[in-house]
Amino acid sequence: MRIIVVKDTEEMGKKAADLIAEEMKKKTSFVMGLATGSTPLSLYKDFIRRNKAGEMDFSTVTTFNLDEYVGLEPAHDQSYRYFMDENLFDHVNILKENTHVPNGMAEDIDASCQEYEKMIDEIGGIDYQVLGIGGNGHIGFNEPGSSLGSLTRIKTLTDETISANARFFEKKEDVPTQAITMGIGTTMKAKKVVLLANGANKADAVKAALEGPIASICPASALQLHRFVTYVITEDCAAQLTLNHETV
Ligand code: PGA
Repeated sequence: MRIIVVKDTEEMGKKAADLIAEEMKKKTSFVMGLATGSTPLSLYKDFIRRNKAGEMDFSTVTTFNLDEYVGLEPAHDQSYRYFMDENLFDHVNILKENTHVPNGMAEDIDASCQEYEKMIDEIGGIDYQVLGIGGNGHIGFNEPGSSLGSLTRIKTLTDETISANARFFEKKEDVPTQAITMGIGTTMKAKKVVLLANGANKADAVKAALEGPIASICPASALQLHRFVTYVITEDCAAQLTLNHETV
């Protein structure tokens, strides 16, 4: 695993954009796995800047988002579809029909999860998966205890995650208690993965993921088995690591 330590959130976004842009140059069409939350915002800002500068073309990019709340309409301002439109898709030359977010309103959730996996497989898999990490080590909404081989499915959120996400809602009771999430196994199928993390509140989770045992209690630790994963993390987030790492 490659660990790159950067000084701040802005550098984190730029470095991750560099890694992805380099890979995009090798292909005529490109499939990205995308994440929501506060962490990837600096990456999406950098994508938008590069697109406006003519350095990054999204016209042949297809995206699959990691997760979506169950029960929120796409137009709800806390849905992840809304987040992606607001923070990336509406500002770059991507074709909306090539952007995929799990359907939190599906009548048959199991069938729609299977269909999501099938779409990813049929397009040839994800070229670059972007991940954040929860304070509890989750990736996507794969909470501690998730099967390390899991595929896209419905998950019940832990109280810790509901509390962490309550900051985006008027009150904690408004946070949906379930979500559809790509599985850990889905992430393991991606050709390359970049995990972003910033802030001292993520230092324990990053330490457990990188230097702890592979165990479902820390879902991100499964990435130790991935063939190509890069962590791009800020200094405060790397504070507890004992392994050598690159600094930029
Ligand atoms: P955050 O969430 O980027 O808002 O910190 C990350 C996560 O919970 O995976």
